[in-house]
Amino acid sequence: MGVKHVSLGTFTSSLSAAIALAALAAACSTSSSTDSPTGGDAGADAGRPRTATTGTIERGQYLVDHVLVCGVCHTPNGADGKPDPTKYLAGSRSYDFTDTDGTVVTVNAENLTSHNPEGLATWSDEQIRTALTGGIDDEHIALYPIMPYPEYSLLTRADVDSIIQYLRTVAPNDNVVPADYPYFDQNPPVPVVDGSKIPHTTLAPSDADFAAAERGRYLASVACLNCHTEQLSADIPDLAKAFAGGKKYTFVRGAPQHTSVNITPDKTGLATWSIDDIVSAMLSNVEKGTGRSFCNTHPGGPELFGKMAASDVRDIATYIHTLPPVANGPFKCLP
Ligand code: HEC
Ligand code: HEC
Repeated sequence: MGVKHVSLGTFTSSLSAAIALAALAAACSTSSSTDSPTGGDAGADAGRPRTATTGTIERGQYLVDHVLVCGVCHTPNGADGKPDPTKYLAGSRSYDFTDTDGTVVTVNAENLTSHNPEGLATWSDEQIRTALTGGIDDEHIALYPIMPYPEYSLLTRADVDSIIQYLRTVAPNDNVVPADYPYFDQNPPVPVVDGSKIPHTTLAPSDADFAAAERGRYLASVACLNCHTEQLSADIPDLAKAFAGGKKYTFVRGAPQHTSVNITPDKTGLATWSIDDIVSAMLSNVEKGTGRSFCNTHPGGPELFGKMAASDVRDIATYIHTLPPVANGPFKCLP
């Protein structure tokens, strides 16, 4: 959208198109069955604009509000420090980054409502899909990867379509999101996550809980990996330490730095937690043993993970409880 970036930089349209196609190909490269991470159907349809025909609006709303929690970034807080319901998904929460040369860059999460021109009204389904799973916007400009597109690339085609269908139903909101400042060009986008490198459950395929754990692997890859994994470099997760915590959050100017914790079943992580303990912490947002509410970087609480479907919470808990243990930490959200 035209309000975001102040300059198109030096891109030629053919270079931009090549980048967009490369990202699309990457997003499509793992597709094989409807259960595996797809991002789209490769082959004859690759590169052709596709409308969001699979999935449902209800599934999209559920993913947006309670699993992928897009509003944590795309809905601003009101004066009371709580998400402002009059600006639901209308942007912007801003994020500050210190660039390699020391410049502090402010990146804003945009308006996702169906407003024209502030929101996504003029975007095609394919453009939203490319932004969400490949990190390239409608102007062929790469998104800063605080937007978790490297992980969203693992979403199934039906789930991406569901999100697109739901976003189309979000009432237009004319909230104007400030341009990123100073102009920040992340091109090319960071590589998407290689789903084949995300660990599988250690349960044997014959185990009664194997299928649940592998369903949980999918959800945890798109909803938890980004935060709970240390980075090799800016927003490239170190998959050898998947879910082992230690990612630091420095993005809100002036706020104390938060660190994610190890959720693998190592003694530096959740070795002493049962599946039920994990389920209960996910739904209540309260830590086992201490009764402490989690710091607000973890998107818990009644409006977010608290409304995740019980079966999905159990699948995720079954997966992380049966991950290969990784020694890392222990970490604390706040020192
Ligand atoms: C951790 C924060 C975060 C989360 C969670 C997040 N986003 Fe974003 N998103 C951003 C930021 C920041 C940008 C802007 C990046 C930039 O300008 O380079 C963005 C950009 C976008 C864009 C491009 C919009 C435009 O006008 O250029 C779309 C589309 C988008 N996000 C959709 C979503 C959806 C849908 C979800 C949930 C499934 C989601 N985002 C979750 C932070 C987030
Ligand atoms: C936006 C970042 C973020 C996301 C997304 C996120 N978490 Fe967290 N999580 C954290 C942080 C930070 C903490 C530490 C909170 C604290 O100790 O107060 C945490 C704490 C936890 C804990 C408590 C562990 C302990 O030792 O007390 C569990 C369990 C957990 N997360 C599971 C998950 C799961 C499962 C998902 C995905 C469904 C998830 N988290 C998504 C950031 C995140």
